[in-house]
Amino acid sequence: MYYSEKILEEVRAGNDIVDVISGYVRLQKKGGRYWGLCPFHNEKSPSFSVNGDMQVYHCFGCGAGGNVYTFVMNYENYTFPEAVRMLAQRAGVALPQEEDSPEARSRDNRRARLLEVNKAAAKFFYYQLRSPHGEIGYRYLKKRELSDETMHKFGLGFAGKNGAHLVQYLREKGFEDDLIQEAGLAAHSEKYGLNSQFWNRVMYPIQDINNRVIGFGGRVMGEGEPKYLNSPETPVFDKRRNLYGLNYARKARSGNIILCEGYMDVISMHQAGFTQAVASLGTAFTPEQAALLKRYTETVLLAYDSDGAGVKAALRAIGILRDAGLTGKIINMQPYKDPDEFMKSLGKESFEERIRQAENSFFFEVRILQGQFDMDDPEEKTRFHREIAKKLCEFSEEVERDNYLQAVAEKYYIGIENLRRLVVRYAAGTGAAKPLERPKSGIRRRDPEENAKRSQRLLITWLCAQPVLYGRIRKYISPEDFTVELYRRVAERLFPELEAGRVNPAGIISMFEDGEEQKEAAELFSALLPELDTAQEKEKAFHEILLSVKRNSYQYHLSQMGAEVSALSRAIEGKKALEELAGTHISLD
Ligand code: UTP
Ligand code: MN
Repeated sequence: MYYSEKILEEVRAGNDIVDVISGYVRLQKKGGRYWGLCPFHNEKSPSFSVNGDMQVYHCFGCGAGGNVYTFVMNYENYTFPEAVRMLAQRAGVALPQEEDSPEARSRDNRRARLLEVNKAAAKFFYYQLRSPHGEIGYRYLKKRELSDETMHKFGLGFAGKNGAHLVQYLREKGFEDDLIQEAGLAAHSEKYGLNSQFWNRVMYPIQDINNRVIGFGGRVMGEGEPKYLNSPETPVFDKRRNLYGLNYARKARSGNIILCEGYMDVISMHQAGFTQAVASLGTAFTPEQAALLKRYTETVLLAYDSDGAGVKAALRAIGILRDAGLTGKIINMQPYKDPDEFMKSLGKESFEERIRQAENSFFFEVRILQGQFDMDDPEEKTRFHREIAKKLCEFSEEVERDNYLQAVAEKYYIGIENLRRLVVRYAAGTGAAKPLERPKSGIRRRDPEENAKRSQRLLITWLCAQPVLYGRIRKYISPEDFTVELYRRVAERLFPELEAGRVNPAGIISMFEDGEEQKEAAELFSALLPELDTAQEKEKAFHEILLSVKRNSYQYHLSQMGAEVSALSRAIEGKKALEELAGTHISLD
C-alpha cells in the first residue's frame, strides 16, 4: 500500500511522540526533554531521550533513533504500512482505501510478503495435521498429552512426506518461487525441483509478539536428524530478538516470566496454566531477548533442563539477565529432566510449589561452583571461598553485596570477617568500580573527520533548538558546507524550513527510507549541546562550531578542485566567508 506524503504527515502529526512512547516506556522530564530506559538495548540508567519539540527520539547508549514511525516499527516489529495503519487508527485519521492494484502490491515491501507466505504455510501445515496425511503427527502430539485446544492455540501443524505439496499449494496462492525460498520453506534439489525443507515433521509456527508467523520449528517423527529443524534467519525472522510464546506470555500478568529451553516445554506449561512461559528459538538466550523481557517483567524464572548442558545454559542466561538488570531465579526440576516431564509426572500444584522455592541466581551459581571443589580438602575449600569472594565483587552496590556476603557466609559456614577481608582484597585488585565511558558532546576530538562531522551535527542541532540563529548566519552558511552527505540532504530541507519559520525534524526523518539513515538523522536532532554556564562561553562555542564547519567545507572544496568545475568558486567564496566570519560577533540572545 502506498500512502501519500501528505497523509503520512497528517498521521505523524496526530501522534505526539511523547504520548506514544509513554505508552511503552516510563519517561521522566529532564532539561527540556524526556528520558527513560532504552527499550532497544539493556541498560540500568536512562540514556534514551525523547524530544517533544522535534518529535524525535534518540538513544545515546545504542544509537537507536527516529520518529514516531520508526519507534513503532522497531518496537512492535511492524512493517512501515502496518505502523501507518496503527498510528492512523490511534489518531483517528481515515486512510484512503487500499487498492489492490498490481502496482500497489509490488510496492508492498518484501517483509510483508514474507509474513504472508509464512502465514499461508502455517495454514497448510495446520490442515495437514488434521488430515489423514498428518495422522502420525497428530498421534505423536496426543501421546505427548496435548489437547486439541492447545494444538489449536499454538497453531501446530504437520509437514508430510511429500515435499512437493507445500510448494504446489503456495504457488497456487500466488507466491513466487524466490519468495518461498527466501522464507526458508523450500529449496531446490536436482531430483525434486523446488521442494519443502520440512519433511515428516510436526510443525511449530513461531509467532512474534503481534501473533505474526515469522518462522517455524519442525520436530522430526522418530529418530531422524536434526531433531528440530528451524527456519533460517530471514528479514522477518531474527532469532536473537524474538521468543517463542511471548505473544501470550506478555499478557499473562503473573509477575514473572518463565524461560524454558524447548518449544514443547512452553506448550505444556501453557496447557497447565503457566501462560507466562517462553523459550528461545533453537539458539542460546541472548541479551536482546533479555531486553525484550525487561519490557514485561522484573523477574525471570529459569526452567532449563536439569542435565549438565541445561545447567551450563542456565549459568550463561543468569549473567545475561543480570546485565539486563533483571532478577533471575532457578526452578529446580529434579528429579525430572525438563518442565514438560515434570508437569506430566507431578502436575501443576507441585510446579507452583517449585516456583515459590525458586533459587536465587547467586546461590545457584555458588552451589554449582561448590560442586567443582572437594570440600574435604582445605586447599580446595580455600579456593572455593576465594571464588565466592570474587563473585561477591560483582555486586556494585555495597548494601546488596554485604547482604549477600552475610547470607553466603552463613550458608557455607565461612567466617564473615574472613570473607569480608577476601572481598576487599579482590575489589582492590580488580578496581571494582570502573567508570563507564560515556558519549560526550562538544567538538574536541582528535580525528579530523570525526571532528568535522561533529561540528556539522552540532550546528544542525543548535539551529533546530534556536531557530532565530538561522537569520544571523544564513549569509555565511549553505547546505553545500555540509560535507557529510546525509547532513547535506537534511540541511537542504531544513534551511528552507528555517527560512519559513516552520521546522519539522520528524518530517525530515521520514525522507529517509533506510533505518540506519533514520537513526543518524534522529541523532542529529537529538545531540546534546555542550553544557556551558555563561552566555559568553556559549557564544564562543557556537562561533567555533560555525568556523569549524566553514573551514572544513573550504578545505573539502579545495581538495575537489580539478574534479569538479564549481569547486573553485566555492572555495573562493568559502575563504571569503571564513575570513569575514572569523571577525564577526554573532550574538545568541
Ligand atoms: P531438547 O532436545 O531438550 O528438546 O531441545 P525438547 O523440547 O525436550 O524436545 P522433545 O521433548 O524431545 O520433543 C530443546 C530445544 O532446543 C532446540 C529446540 O528449540 C528445542 O525445543 N533444538 C534442539 C534445536 O533447535 N535443534 C535440535 O536438533 C535440538
Ligand atoms: Mn523434552
